[in-house]
Amino acid sequence: MTVHESTPKRLKLDGDGKAQKMTVNSTIGPQDPRFAAAAQLATAAGYEPPSEFSEIHCTPHKASWLENGFLQFFTTNEIRCRVLVYMPRQELQPHTHDLTEDFKITYGWVDSLCDGNLCRLRCGESIHVETGVKHSLRAGRQGLVFEETVGEGAFAKRSTTFLPEVARLQSFSSATVLVTGASRGLGRGFVEALLAQGAKVVATCRSPASTKLPPEALAVQLDVADEESIGLLPQRLADLGITTVDVLINNAGISNPTHPVDPSPTCKVSDVRDVFETNVLGTLGVTQVLLPLLRAGDDHLVVNLSSQLASLTNAWSVQGRRGGCTSYRVSRAANNMLVRCLGGELLDDGFTVLAMSPGHVATDMGSAGGRVAPLTVEESVAGMLRVLAAASPQDSGKFLQYDGQELPW
Ligand SMILES: NC(=O)c1ccc[n+]([C@@H]2O[C@H](COP(=O)([O-])OP(=O)(O)OC[C@H]3O[C@@H](n4cnc5c(N)ncnc54)[C@H](OP(=O)(O)O)[C@@H]3O)[C@@H](O)[C@H]2O)c1
Repeated sequence: MTVHESTPKRLKLDGDGKAQKMTVNSTIGPQDPRFAAAAQLATAAGYEPPSEFSEIHCTPHKASWLENGFLQFFTTNEIRCRVLVYMPRQELQPHTHDLTEDFKITYGWVDSLCDGNLCRLRCGESIHVETGVKHSLRAGRQGLVFEETVGEGAFAKRSTTFLPEVARLQSFSSATVLVTGASRGLGRGFVEALLAQGAKVVATCRSPASTKLPPEALAVQLDVADEESIGLLPQRLADLGITTVDVLINNAGISNPTHPVDPSPTCKVSDVRDVFETNVLGTLGVTQVLLPLLRAGDDHLVVNLSSQLASLTNAWSVQGRRGGCTSYRVSRAANNMLVRCLGGELLDDGFTVLAMSPGHVATDMGSAGGRVAPLTVEESVAGMLRVLAAASPQDSGKFLQYDGQELPW
């Protein structure tokens, strides 16, 4: 998976940032790995896919901006029209044009930033950008198709000026994100980082009344080990006017009281049961009750916090242990299977379901037993959000780490 944000490419403008003509750099035929995905998007948008797409860059000898490359084709209908195809989460950096643009979205959704105004546009809606207005966009998680409504010929005349000094779109700015276990540790870190991006954040925790959460967060009571509390969640959200959720981060989790000491020959079965109840059944229950709200949202992204300790393949090697951490490992491995099940069953509905290892992080859990964790909450959360920003249904059912690495099951 490509994570664009981890290594943002700097635009190399030709000295003074002058306007540059957009040019077709190459054509993409069926032999190109991008062709099938682009043809699928074009079909989903209701077009007859072309025999080849044009790849549009902007004078690459003057600018290195792989992120700006997108695909296009022209319809062969009575009214010839330019159709643009963006891959999931593809970004077009801030720029201006020397003519007014009018586009209609025919598949997917897009976050658009026009002269500092952020909006999310969905299929059927239109984008109108006046000459000279600074704008950028980021395609939705399922990809994006839109057509130009100004007619043939406009494209050839257009000049584009990219603006490296203008702030780029943040990935979660328009998203409603629900985080479980937000009172401390990684959950709290997610809440703070998402708020900083401008997201609407629902911070759920067991005791919101006695928990100091950031004031911009919407605090909601949720004990993931309590079925009644889970059952009340949709109504509690509705009371706050929340009827859609774009991203669910199933972060709440526990380990046994003596974590990481928990040998399988002697561990308490009741501990294993408790940890399983929270880490597996809690995650499943919360995801189930939120599915209608997630379906009504745009991203359709569900993230289950996992751990490198969940890997069956690495069960005899992680953190110098051959086995051990029994209740935690068993629960996290089961949770990974939940990701595989949900990911498979919700794939046709455009969902992305991921198991995400945060790495070994300095939190109450990560530091338990006197361990010194190599990562801070901020480092881990920033990495996970970069990975999640780029994730699409093609990644569904994967076990990923905070740095984008895919882990063995
Ligand atoms: N830290 C690491 O190195 C590491 C590594 C791999 C995976 N993880 C995973 O990352 C997630 C966050 O861990 P962390 O390190 O931030 O742990 P932490 O500091 O111990 O925080 C755990 C969070 O989960 C909440 N929680 C526990 N049981 C809950 C319940 N029944 N209902 C609602 N919330 C509940 C806690 O809320 P209270 O304040 O109410 O207890 C707390 O907010 C966990 O799923 C963990 O398994 C962590």
